[in-house]
Amino acid sequence: KGARRGRECRQLKLGGIRATELVEQFGSPLYVVDEDQTRATAREIRDALRSEAQRIGTDAKVYYASKAFLCVEVARWMDEEGLPIDVASGGELAVALAAGVDPQNIGFHGNNKSEAEIARAIEVGIGTIIIDSEIEVERIAAAASAAGRTQSVRLRVNSGVHASTHDYLATAHEDQKFGMPLSEAPAMVRKIVAHENLNFLGLHCHIGSQIFATEGFRESAERLLSVYGELSEITGGPIAELNLGGGFGIAYTPDQAGEAPDVREIARQLADIVKQACDDAGLPLPKLAFEPGRAIVGQSGVTLYTVGTTKRVQLAGSDAAADPADHGYGERIYVSVDGGMSDNARPALYGSDYHVRIANRVSDAEPALVRVVGKHCESGDIVVYRDELPGDVSPGDVLAVAATGAYCWSLSSNYNYVPRPPVVALRNGEARIIVRGETENDLLALSVTE
Ligand code: LLP
Repeated sequence: KGARRGRECRQLKLGGIRATELVEQFGSPLYVVDEDQTRATAREIRDALRSEAQRIGTDAKVYYASKAFLCVEVARWMDEEGLPIDVASGGELAVALAAGVDPQNIGFHGNNKSEAEIARAIEVGIGTIIIDSEIEVERIAAAASAAGRTQSVRLRVNSGVHASTHDYLATAHEDQKFGMPLSEAPAMVRKIVAHENLNFLGLHCHIGSQIFATEGFRESAERLLSVYGELSEITGGPIAELNLGGGFGIAYTPDQAGEAPDVREIARQLADIVKQACDDAGLPLPKLAFEPGRAIVGQSGVTLYTVGTTKRVQLAGSDAAADPADHGYGERIYVSVDGGMSDNARPALYGSDYHVRIANRVSDAEPALVRVVGKHCESGDIVVYRDELPGDVSPGDVLAVAATGAYCWSLSSNYNYVPRPPVVALRNGEARIIVRGETENDLLALSVTE
């Protein structure tokens, strides 16, 4: 951190279009997503995971975890690229269906799906429902019999692996709300197979999100497979699937570029582990399944903002530069932009890092330490905690914040009655709106006035 990257040398283009042109046409702030890149990344990840599974003699299904970013267009892209969709609510299900996704290609997650959501999912013929608790076994079986259907289900378990990521993003240690302890899997599967209208596909585990260390994935696969022999005795046949969730981390800043895991490498290691574990236990190979979200859309998104005010805070000799990374800088420029935690809650929620640059002009000014902040009434309203920009950054400049494709629009809010910005997709050098921006009237319309 803090390494000087040198001076800005060109105006920023996104998908072949100048960032300033996008802001002129669609306004600021603006979410921009590169459709070509998103599709290419989806194909690349799908192919990496599938070809490694095929190498060991099985296959893999790669779902898109739609919570990362979903709208009708994105669901269509994934569908066209051959990725089934993972949803976690009735709302996400409705978007996937509106996009024309075959319900059989949808998986439904959640630790507290409502009875109405379960009934709707079964009624439309959803491919799989991931059971998250014992209570859901009965609920799903009852809904399936009411609909006169047989429902395929997976069982979410905690592998007990402690993924090295932010606490809020780790989901496979024992003391958290998702899934069942692995030790309870046999009892749960007994309950599942007691229902004729439930078809048990296999275990599911998602160890967390934004994970850089690959051991967790391997360890989880091994732990889950260690009960497959026992489970197949209960079901009376081989267990069809092993779903290892998503969570592949991405680089948010240039410093992280070399550290983020390569999905092909994870796939290769996992395939080897799965093959070994199955061979050792004399088990048939299950089909593998994955559900990455961030790794597919994260890096194809950029948010454009316009600078409103700047303010200089002296660090030298004050207590301001509490962070050693700031030592050596005389001052920090607070650069306020026209959005903030309402369009990107991640820095406030997880202390996430982002990378910013000036998009509208070339500057010869010396790099200065900046903190890009939003317009909301909270000091935690930070867009970029620490980065460098040319020292002459000033009102009217357009800033581009990289890697905002995942969990930015989807976690957005209307805090302070700030309308959500639109999302523009870039393809073949052309830009089009795929999610409309909100207006003040949209927000006012929510208040009951009579
Ligand atoms: N599968 C399941 C069951 C999940 O819960 C998640 C993410 C995924 C797949 C996709 O994970 P990914 O590949 O995108 O890491 N709001 C947080 C991330 C929360 C992730 C929740 N579950 C963030 O902004 O970092």
